[in-house]
Amino acid sequence: MTTPRKLHIKSYGCQMNVYDAQRMVDTLAGEGFVETASADDADLVILNTCHIREKASEKVYSELGRLRVAKEEAARAGREMKIAVAGCVAQAEGEEIIHRAPTVDIVVGPQSYHHLPQLLQRARANGRALETEFPVEDKFGFLPQPKPDAIRARGISAFVTVQEGCDKFCTFCVVPYTRGAEVSRPVAKIIDDVMQLADNGVREITLIGQNVNAYHGEGPDGRAWPLGKLLQRLAEIPGVARLRYSTSHPRDVDDSLIAAHRDLPELMPFVHLPVQSGSDRILAAMNRKHTADDYRRVIDRFRAARQDIAFSSDFIVGFPGETREEFSATLALVTQIGYAASYSFKYSPRPGTPAAEMRETVSALEMDERLGRLQGLIDSQQSAFNRAAIGTTVDVLFERAARNPGQIVGRTAYLQPAHVMASPDIIGKILPVRIDSLERYSLIGELATSAPSLVSQTIGA
Ligand code: SAH
Ligand code: SF4
Ligand code: F3S
Repeated sequence: MTTPRKLHIKSYGCQMNVYDAQRMVDTLAGEGFVETASADDADLVILNTCHIREKASEKVYSELGRLRVAKEEAARAGREMKIAVAGCVAQAEGEEIIHRAPTVDIVVGPQSYHHLPQLLQRARANGRALETEFPVEDKFGFLPQPKPDAIRARGISAFVTVQEGCDKFCTFCVVPYTRGAEVSRPVAKIIDDVMQLADNGVREITLIGQNVNAYHGEGPDGRAWPLGKLLQRLAEIPGVARLRYSTSHPRDVDDSLIAAHRDLPELMPFVHLPVQSGSDRILAAMNRKHTADDYRRVIDRFRAARQDIAFSSDFIVGFPGETREEFSATLALVTQIGYAASYSFKYSPRPGTPAAEMRETVSALEMDERLGRLQGLIDSQQSAFNRAAIGTTVDVLFERAARNPGQIVGRTAYLQPAHVMASPDIIGKILPVRIDSLERYSLIGELATSAPSLVSQTIGA
């Protein structure tokens, strides 16, 4: 029997990269590779990179510096280590990586992961291999079906890609260039994937896509189905307890999606709906094609359909030419909407995007100051949202044993981690939990199903 080869993947960036990493593992499993937790003993190391901001893509080169050393050490020990760069930096700067980093054996763009076995062969034969073309037809051709034991090992929550790419061309963003044009997977294939996952113990499905609510995949009736209709169909699959989707764009929120939130108890009342800025002039310069008021109206439609719905968002501070007043409009929007969580970033000029050509810049000092103020506001909203859970009973889907012995951790509808002392057989179940306290971002509570006398006996003993 041949010894399995070891594969180590390090992922940066968004959920799509997490998902793609699993697909790479599934593809290479067929070649006799098994995953290993450390790069040092791996036969193949894949850096699955992100190009969204300068900081993210710079990490690649410092990581490659470390890997070069590991590769040399492996060679001294008589072992061959191959290094591959995948993801959005590979797509955007493939040639540059080949020139700048001689230690890299393979550069592979997100559309070519199904060719990894051939690329490995090519690298062995020719020294190096690069593939970053966009395929002409099936963009989802690379998706292998994960094996049942791989699904079970990954736990009770899974991502399913339904859509990839983006046609929105926000002026700051590299995604349309790294992930290409927007394409949707057919409904039947998504149903197959979800049934397979549910049959193997997955209880929560998050549909992912760079612009997930632009989804318009072909349905069994030959028509293009919107995301809301897809969600409705997936909710019928036995075993699917929770559905989520990410990331959506305010312009693509249609009536089917609102209806899904109204009608489907499986669809979680927590929506990531990035707005980026509260200023109409900045939104226009970003090519978002919506105003702050349009966004407020979208939020109102969700809230009218589902009272307990909560939101998170992304914000960029210091977009070229953003004035103090325009930044204040962002603070005002955040105050008005009231988010459960949010992510905020300093604007980072990305090569090849229209905004990178804009000349009016905001000083580094000013950007830091704005980011600090926005993050302060976001944090206070998040803390208030979490504190409001104390004293209430909420449904938690239990995922795994926590770090503290005896504790099991799960997530609420709003993705808040919730910890209880309980037996591991609650993993995979949704149970009501009485929330007693808050530890940083985690809710701490007790299972509301156990008899109160028993609980007090245990505690009092
Ligand atoms: N498809 C999603 C998210 C794209 S990337 C959407 O349309 O919202 C995730 C977040 O990174 C964006 O929402 C944005 O806030 C941030 N981002 C993207 N490009 C950036 C840049 N050049 N500088 C700073 N932040 C950026
Ligand atoms: Fe980037 Fe805009 Fe597309 Fe989101 S919608 S991926 S921010 S171009
Ligand atoms: Fe980054 Fe590419 Fe995702 S740039 S955020 S890994 S789509």
